[in-house]
Order: sequence, then C-alpha cells, then structure tokens
Amino acid sequence: MPNQRLSRLRNNPGLRDLVSETNLHPKDFILPYFVVGGRGKREPIASMPGIYRFSTENLLKDIEETKGIRTVLLFGLPESKDETGSQAYRKDGVVQKAVAAIKKEFADLTVVTDVCLCGYTGYGHCGIQRVTLNPSLHLRVNSVKGLSLKIDSERTLEALAKIALSHAEAGADLVAPSAMMDGQVAAIREALNRNGFGGVGILAYSAKYASNFYGPFRDALDSAPAFGDRKTYQMDFRNAREALREVEQDILEGADIVMVKPALAYLDIIYRVKEKFNVPVAAYSVSGEYAMLKKATNENGVSEKDLVLEVLTAIKRAGADFIITYYARDVLRWL
Ligand code: PBG
Repeated sequence: MPNQRLSRLRNNPGLRDLVSETNLHPKDFILPYFVVGGRGKREPIASMPGIYRFSTENLLKDIEETKGIRTVLLFGLPESKDETGSQAYRKDGVVQKAVAAIKKEFADLTVVTDVCLCGYTGYGHCGIQRVTLNPSLHLRVNSVKGLSLKIDSERTLEALAKIALSHAEAGADLVAPSAMMDGQVAAIREALNRNGFGGVGILAYSAKYASNFYGPFRDALDSAPAFGDRKTYQMDFRNAREALREVEQDILEGADIVMVKPALAYLDIIYRVKEKFNVPVAAYSVSGEYAMLKKATNENGVSEKDLVLEVLTAIKRAGADFIITYYARDVLRWL
C-alpha cells in the first residue's frame, strides 16, 4: 500500500468539508434584474425560464422575497429608444428611479448598475452610431443590409459618463460599464470625481467577449443589434493575452473591480486575470449559460441544484471572487 492514499481524506462528508478548497458563500452572488417602467409588470422572458422583467414595485417585492440576497445588478428597458440613447441618463429614467426606490427600502442592499447604450439606442449597439445620413432617415435605414457600424467614440464616452453619473446620483454603490469602449473607465472615473462622486466604485466589464452566449439577454432587453455585430468592440474569443491588456488598461483608468464575461467557457481567462492582478475579479455567468443549464437539467434527469452548484464552484475555483448569475436566487435557497 502506498503511504500516500489520497482517498483517505474523502472518507466521509466531514473530512471532505474539512479539506475543501473552494466553498460558495451567499455573499458571492449578484442577482441581475431587468427593470421596466409602468406599474404591475412581471413579464416572463421566454428564453430564460424563471426570469422576469419587473416594474419597480414588483422588483422591490421580489428582492424582499429573495432571502439572503446582498447585491443586485440592474438593467433598464426604457419606454422609448432613440439615436443617441438619451433615455439612459434621464434623472427619472427606469434605472435611476429603481435605484432610488431600492435604496430607500433596503438601505443595506448593494446596488450595481449596468452602464451601456445598447438597450437605449434604436439600433441596439453599445456606442452611438456616427450619423453619416440625414438623422431623420437614419432609423429607417438601420436594417439595410451592408450598413456598417461607425461608432462616434467621443459622443459615446460622453454619454456613458452621463449615464454613470446619473446612476451615482440616484444612489448606486457601483457602476458597471459594459460597452467595451476604449477609455470608458477613465471617462466615467473622471466624471464621477468631478461631480462629487469620487467614492462610487467602478466594476468594469473588462474582458468582455463577443459571445454567442448573450442571445437570451438580448431578447430580455430587446437589444439585439439591428445591423452588424459587436465584434468591432467586444473581444475576440480566440484571444487570452488581449484580455490581460484590457484588464490592465481598465485598472490604470481607475477600475476597482474587473470582470470576465462570459464565465463557463472562459475559466482560463478568469484564472489568468486572478494570477496576474491584485484587484477583485468578478465573473458573469451569462444568459446563455443559464439557458443551457436549464435545458441540461430539466430534460435529462440531472439534478439542477447539483449541476449548477458544480458549475458555480468551478467558476469560483478558477479565481472569481464573486459571480453574477441568474441562478443567484436558487443558489441562496440551496446553500
Ligand atoms: C450590454 C450587456 C450584455 C450583457 C450584459 N450587458 C449583452 C451584450 O453585450 O450583448 C449580457 C448579459 C447576459 O447575456 O446575461 N452591453
């Protein structure tokens, strides 16, 4: 018999727990919410079973019922979209009103807001399209084949900074820029500092890939691009070193926390980022991962709880300090 018998420490649950290296904790989970205007709304999202778009009072009710939740991430669906995404930075916009209402009701809840334009521009891109046509014609030609995306980076950064500032004014604890525009973290940091919100942190979507796993989310937020794709600003999934450059740049620009997104197919990226940098690392287990896990469990006699906890543990084991997941509600129940 060899002296080293690794199975000795697996003999019973107590021993296994004693030597376990990675453990999920309720505080590790952020629950994303889709917020809509109006009242009494609780709209199911077909591609994401169990996830809804809530109007603010129903959102508050759901948070109340989600025992143990510590942090939420808000996405807004405006009543109307336009060429420049101007609904995104209204003082009385859906997200701004929801943040204020949440903070009033649940002072201890940490509120993170997604800062992007794709849900607010009529053409569903994360930056403002440089208008090369008569603006009044522009919306109608969005779906014309071959129309190429030209982002006006100056106006985009200005808009992102305004959005972040409006979220901070409403009471957000962290703003989370997800547009993957060069310089977005610096622009936001500068605007926050200049306006007395130097204490509000930035959770940067730093290594955000142009991923096929975002499909259900775009359905939820009605934000699929009307033309083109996001490959000119989101990362190419063939690249890993480039992710480290993105993260490094965001930290230089003032990011407090960096994110890798998606999570499950990007464990190597999470690992590398964690090894190399000394800032907290977030992982976003995205809508397509949620939908995939739902399918894998409900139809195949696999325990949803066991499979999801395995996946989330793997994401944490890779190096994530916390995880944004649509499963957060279930996980809190399971743990
Ligand atoms: C918007 C944004 C996206 C997600 C978060 N913020 C989608 C996208 O870039 O198309 C995806 C989240 C998910 O799939 O759960 N910039």
